[in-house]
Parts: sequence; structure tokens; C-alpha cells
Amino acid sequence: MSASWIASRGGPLRGELVVPGDKSISHRSIMLASLADGVSRIEGFLEGEDARATEAIFRQLGVRIDVPSEGVRIVHGVGIDGLRGTSEALDCGNAGTGMRLLAGLLAGQSFDSVLVGDESLSKRPMRRVTVPLAKMGARIDTAEGGLPPLRIHGGTALQGIDFASEIASAQVKSAMLLAGLYARGTTVVHEPHPTRDYTERMLKALGWPIEFSPGYAKLEGGHRLSAADIVVPADFSSAAFFIVAATLVPGSELRLKRVGINPRRTGLLHVLRAMGADIREENAGEQGGEPVCDLVVRHAPLRGIEVPVEHVADMIDEFPVLFVAAACAQGRTVVRGAAELRVKESDRIATMADGLRTLGVQVDETADGATIHGGAVMGAGAIGSHGDHRIAMSFAVAAQLSSGDLRIDDVDNVATSFPGFDNLARTSGFGLRAL
Ligand code: S3P
Repeated sequence: MSASWIASRGGPLRGELVVPGDKSISHRSIMLASLADGVSRIEGFLEGEDARATEAIFRQLGVRIDVPSEGVRIVHGVGIDGLRGTSEALDCGNAGTGMRLLAGLLAGQSFDSVLVGDESLSKRPMRRVTVPLAKMGARIDTAEGGLPPLRIHGGTALQGIDFASEIASAQVKSAMLLAGLYARGTTVVHEPHPTRDYTERMLKALGWPIEFSPGYAKLEGGHRLSAADIVVPADFSSAAFFIVAATLVPGSELRLKRVGINPRRTGLLHVLRAMGADIREENAGEQGGEPVCDLVVRHAPLRGIEVPVEHVADMIDEFPVLFVAAACAQGRTVVRGAAELRVKESDRIATMADGLRTLGVQVDETADGATIHGGAVMGAGAIGSHGDHRIAMSFAVAAQLSSGDLRIDDVDNVATSFPGFDNLARTSGFGLRAL
């Protein structure tokens, strides 16, 4: 049985902390270092289940990956055509990123592969990658309804295409680009809103010629990747729980060190500041080619806003915790243009709305968002995570403002993205204990 937490008001959040490595970059570091010529060293690798599932898959595909110490990986690249097929299923665990990127990467191999996932991933839509990949010539069978498992037929000649995606999704874009490494000709991806560009940046860092700008990427097949050292910055999405908690809890002043602040990830900073948050960026620098800084967050009262639709893609993983901020703000917060939230690890509009209602907050759902009526005193109760790490952590934040204990069930999934969240949260001042 999965573990539960009891979360309740703690003290002000104070001190300094470092959150674990970025999940998106950790997945890509294993994938691209495996395909490179030579040995790459990865530092700051996320020791979470999602990234480790990708790591285990590349071992199954014949890549030697050493673990000299926590957060470090030495990847002995096998070259662009060096992966070895296996008849075993490749288990992506809970990771949509792992499965969708691998669908593109494996479509270009000479061997067949089968990708499977856990219960939550097995309900997530895969046509968004299998349909455009098929246009490149890929042959991928899904289960009924376009769901996992994915059976990928190797030995297929891929052809580059010019693809205009209807969905703003870095996973879709990356699947196309990874298939494009193996395709004849040029692969071009246009996005309706720019999304995180980590695949593009890392391909470039490892020597693959690529052109990209916000919302656009173009590469051609037939080159090679060279090993390089990769430094993974701290994950902004993990920092987000502490940013919101420190903003909401009176008396807080918290420094989050060396957080990755790629502009395609930090929509939450714009929105929280527009709501009145006090978040300063200090010690700006670069780590592994990514902008990083310390975020210094002080308590500030918030007011509700209409979340600008242009920030949605840049904060797609932060809506659960934004809903909590909105519940504590004065006035209404309106979210629109965020239908993607319905197909994440859970239906994040429904799970957040249900959970907040349990605490006494009025939330009106729409197909692509919600209106959250802020300012009510949140009560006590019990909620489930619906197998979704970000729901569990968001309600741990909500409990810091609730009038009584909040029981959060099914929290094992937090280890997919943020192992050690509960300890770090307690150290910084959260009221949180295992049941
Ligand atoms: C990710 C892209 C986003 C994000 C996910 C990680 C990535 O998904 O929600 O957590 O690493 O490319 P979509 O591409 O489905 O928006």
C-alpha cells in the first residue's frame, strides 16, 4: 500500500535549500549521452524514479552506465547506431517524457521495441507522437484508443518532414527531433506556443547541427554526437512548491539555490509576481549551458488574476501549485487555455478542483481551465494524489495554510520527480509527517 502524509501548518519557511536535478534534462542526458561517441559524465542527475527508468532502459539497450556517486552518471556512449535491441519490454514507469521521447528515438532503430508504463502512464495519450511519427514512416502500434503499450517496429526507413504541431508539447517536438536523427532529409517542427528547448540545446552541445528558435526547430539526419560533460541544474518545477509555500506562509524568507530558470520553464514567476509575490533573482549564472540563479522568496499577500494564456506552456507543470496560491489569494484567479492539464499524470484540473473543494475552496471547472475563488480559510480533510506526484506536493503546500490536519494519501509517486521532498520540506519549516 502506498504511504500517506499528515500535513498541517508548520512555521515560517526559512534558510537555504537545493532541490534535486531537473527531470526533463536528466532524461535527455541519458538518451543523448548513450547515442554519443565517447564517455560522458552527468552531474546533478535526478535520482528520481522517472529518470532512473530511462537509465534502466538504456542499460537494457546495451549501454554501460556507471554510478560513481549519487547524482553522477558515467555514460559509455555506443554511437548513434550502437544500441542493441532486446526482446524484454522497456518499462518507462510513470514517465510520459521517457515514453514519448523514446517512441521517436526507437522508431529509427534496426530492431523492434516494446514500451510499457505504470497504471497512470498506461492511460495517457500516445497518438500525439505516433501519428506524426507515422508521417515520417515510423510503424508503431498502440493499444486501443492510442494508449500504451507501444510496439515499435524497427528497420523502417524514416523520412524527415515539416511538421506543424497543434499541441504545444516539448515531448511531441522532441520525439520528432529524435526520430529526425535517423531520418533521410530534414525534420522541421513548428509549435503553436514555444516549449522547453532542452533537446535542441543538448543536441547542439553534443555537436549535432541544429537550428532552433522559440517555437521552431530544424535538423537533418546522418550526423553523429560527441560525448560531453553535462551538468543538470536544479529543477524549477520542484522549486515551485517551495516558492509558493514561502510566498504564502507569513514570516517566510527562503533561498532556493542554483535553480534552472530557462525562460520556457518560468511562467510561474511572471504569474506569481503579477499576483503580488516577492521573488528576487540573485547570483545569476550559467550551469551546463542553462541559466541558473538563487531565488529568494519572501512572504507576500497575493491577489487573484487572469493567467495570461501566453504563459501557460511555460508553466505547464506548475498549475497544481498555482491553484493552491490562487486559493489563498484575494479574489478570483482564472485559468484558460490549459486543456493539456487533463492528460498529465492525472487530470490535474479535476484533481485539484476536487481536493480544494474538500478544503472548502470554491472552484468552477471549465474544459480548459478553472476559476478559483480565493480567500476562504481552508479546512481540514483527506485527499488522494490520484497517482500524481505534483498533486501530493501541492496539497502539502495547501496544508501550510489550512486550519487543521490534511491527510494526503498515495504519496509514493512523489519519488518519481522529487525524492526526499518530505525531509526537505520539514527542514525548511513545513508541518509534514508520514502517517
Ligand atoms: C516535458 C514536457 C511537458 C511537461 C513534462 C516534461 C519534457 O510535457 O509537462 O513534465 O521533458 O519534455 P508536454 O510535452 O506533454 O507538455
